[in-house]
Amino acid sequence: MSSGYHFSQKHILGIRDLSPEDIDFILQTADSFKEISSRAIKKVPTLRGNTIVNVFYEPSTRTRLSFEIAAKRMSADTFNIAASASSVTKGETLIDTARNIAAMKPDIIIIRHSHSGAAQMLTRYIDASVINAGDGTHEHPSQGLLDMMTVREHKGRLDGLKVAIIGDILHSRVAHSDILGFTRMGSSVHVYGPATLLPQGLEELGAVVCSSLEEAVRDADVIITLRIQLERQNDPLFPSLREYAQKYGVNREVVKLAQPDAIVMHPGPINRGVELMPDVADGPQSVILDQVTNGVAVRMALLYLVMGNS
Ligand code: CP
Repeated sequence: MSSGYHFSQKHILGIRDLSPEDIDFILQTADSFKEISSRAIKKVPTLRGNTIVNVFYEPSTRTRLSFEIAAKRMSADTFNIAASASSVTKGETLIDTARNIAAMKPDIIIIRHSHSGAAQMLTRYIDASVINAGDGTHEHPSQGLLDMMTVREHKGRLDGLKVAIIGDILHSRVAHSDILGFTRMGSSVHVYGPATLLPQGLEELGAVVCSSLEEAVRDADVIITLRIQLERQNDPLFPSLREYAQKYGVNREVVKLAQPDAIVMHPGPINRGVELMPDVADGPQSVILDQVTNGVAVRMALLYLVMGNS
């Protein structure tokens, strides 16, 4: 970990709030924590006595589990609340739920919610540090950070890389965090997907909007494929999954357009055979499981750093 740098964020709400120096410091901290997960006894006392509550209003496998594993590896006490098994089902509001959790004096609340801005809103009502584990279509900062960690691990740098992001950008909080993070760290981010799944304002975020899959992927160092988020579409915004797979799915021929040593990523869960073909997802250029491994290290770093400012 570099000395002398003061990380000053109490909350992690979005990559938008993080300077390049913050991002670099988080990634360095995550690098230093990563080896703990390879030890025979995967536990350090760093957060002993701290209480961390995971509040998930939407389903999750990777994010929820890796925050919990991260907290336990640092000896914090962790508790999980799934909205489906809480008093939310009796009509309790998010603010009331948060105030009641806060009354039990946790140190960190990690929240996933379907409404953009939910994590930000919590910070107005509670004293604990808040970490956004995905809010609507807005941001998923820990995913953006683990994606940057994974790319830096494989490429040795982030600046000067071409990163292609393909798929359902409109509904993807991962895409928003990735575009903000990679451009902030000096990568050139090229996006492509069906016109109906490309929101306005991508150029303002720093992305290059491409008019073909070939343009986006050619000579790319990194290909990030995104899940089609059917649960956020009342009416499908493309003709059929079969047509989507033919026109926008990343297969071996598409990967051949990129640099020979390009890496392929996906935040998960994957719609196999739709946005990403199985032989690519499981192929030699895929680093998808490295992303998951790095998710634990990044989340350990975030818990540690926000506790320093709590
Ligand atoms: N990448 C991601 O957020 O996965 P989960 O929805 O399983 O947490």
